[in-house]
Amino acid sequence: MSVPTSGEVSPRSPPSDVRWAELASGGVAEAVAVLSNRVLTIANRHVAKGAMLRDLAAALQEFAGCSAIGIRILNQQRGIPYEAYVGFPEAFYRLESPLSLDTDYCMCICVVKGQSDPALPPATPGGSFRLGSISRHFGALAEEQRGRFRNVCRRFGYESVALVPIRDADRIVGLIHLADPRQDAISSELVQVLEGVAAHVAGSLRRLWTEEDLQRAERLASVGTLAAGIAHEIAGPLGAILLAVDVAQRRLECPQGKETLRECLDTIQAAASRCERIVRSVQEYARAGTLPRELCGVRGVADRAMEAARDRAARHSITLRLSGAERLPMVLMNPIEMEQAIVNLLVNAAEASEPGREVHLRVWAEADQVRIACGDRGCGMTPEQMERIFDPFYTTKLRTGGTGLGLSIVQSIVRQHGGTIDVRSTPGRGSTMTIALPACSGA
Ligand SMILES: Nc1ncnc2c1ncn2[C@@H]1O[C@H](COP(=O)(O)OP(=O)(O)OP(=O)(O)O)[C@@H](O)[C@H]1O
Ligand SMILES: [Mg+2]
Repeated sequence: MSVPTSGEVSPRSPPSDVRWAELASGGVAEAVAVLSNRVLTIANRHVAKGAMLRDLAAALQEFAGCSAIGIRILNQQRGIPYEAYVGFPEAFYRLESPLSLDTDYCMCICVVKGQSDPALPPATPGGSFRLGSISRHFGALAEEQRGRFRNVCRRFGYESVALVPIRDADRIVGLIHLADPRQDAISSELVQVLEGVAAHVAGSLRRLWTEEDLQRAERLASVGTLAAGIAHEIAGPLGAILLAVDVAQRRLECPQGKETLRECLDTIQAAASRCERIVRSVQEYARAGTLPRELCGVRGVADRAMEAARDRAARHSITLRLSGAERLPMVLMNPIEMEQAIVNLLVNAAEASEPGREVHLRVWAEADQVRIACGDRGCGMTPEQMERIFDPFYTTKLRTGGTGLGLSIVQSIVRQHGGTIDVRSTPGRGSTMTIALPACSGA
């Protein structure tokens, strides 16, 4: 069964301003045009299927004026869960949502399978079923005909019911379920109108499915690239560990073996620490952008980043300097992540500089952004290097233990905050990396 969605309407959803009761006199065609327009307006506002269907269900219920509406969508496991519903009690949803095309039998299943049944009224030319009174209809049937059906609608007190297939070209991908406790509350014209707009629901779903597929493919591709990088990076130190263990074992019996053993242990320690550093960086990379955000002043975050980076810069005999306004527009961010991003820039700048030099961090507001620039007068980069610095695992510091994930983490954090990072560099003269973050208006 797919993830159950609540029947709640998204808070941004305005109620439908079109109602069948007011449009009925104008005829089916006009109502189809008006409601289609409404459906497409809602669909175009959304990029997520769940929220779109919830708003559609609310709008369709408002339009139809019946007490409950659900939208069932066929899934890959051949289930037809209610992806959105309005008005049905939770208990009804729990009972009816897990139906399977393979093991259950009911009116909904007949509609999705495009089947008829002698116990049901004939389907409309559009493939819908409509009953003005469930108790009247099923009450008139023989027990064995009635017994095949679940009849859950009737148990929950619904009398009028209509089931309208959602067709994508010649495939039925789901249905719209209308229910009401009053008899004859759903007219055949209303069913025709819904048949007319169901194709737009299908079209909107297709658009979102395509987008979801693309996003999934992109995510998989980036996970694949990262996994390949991790495997490549860890393979080297692991090979070194295995070789060192092998050499150590051979030397155990040898009288002069002690010195070799010490060398082997050193190799193992260095290689294992490298693996540990890579794993830690990958964890940071994976975590980027997932921590909660609050309105923060960038100056305070920059101050803390300076403190955190000072020792590491001092190891290279580099001093750090911070300048810029104390009061800047606030930015919605996770301060820990942003501090980590700035520290990475400061450490890179220090590592690129000759001992005795200074690294300068500057913060200022420009247009509707807050900017943080980290400048050094170090070795700089060639255009070819600059093209690769954000690639995971690209490093020119293999010998000193660089993982090449520092800037990937920075880029990921900045992007997740809706910002950008700009790089300027001249070989032999130095580099400046500038993070630009959207300022919160009015803050
Ligand atoms: N300020 C800079 N000046 C010159 N080169 C830089 C600068 N910042 C980054 N680079 C180049 O970009 C590469 C990638 O940087 P990144 O921070 O991603 O990894 P790293 O510093 O090599 O390793 P780690 O961050 O894990 O210690 C560096 O190896 C270096 O070649
Ligand atoms: Mg780095």
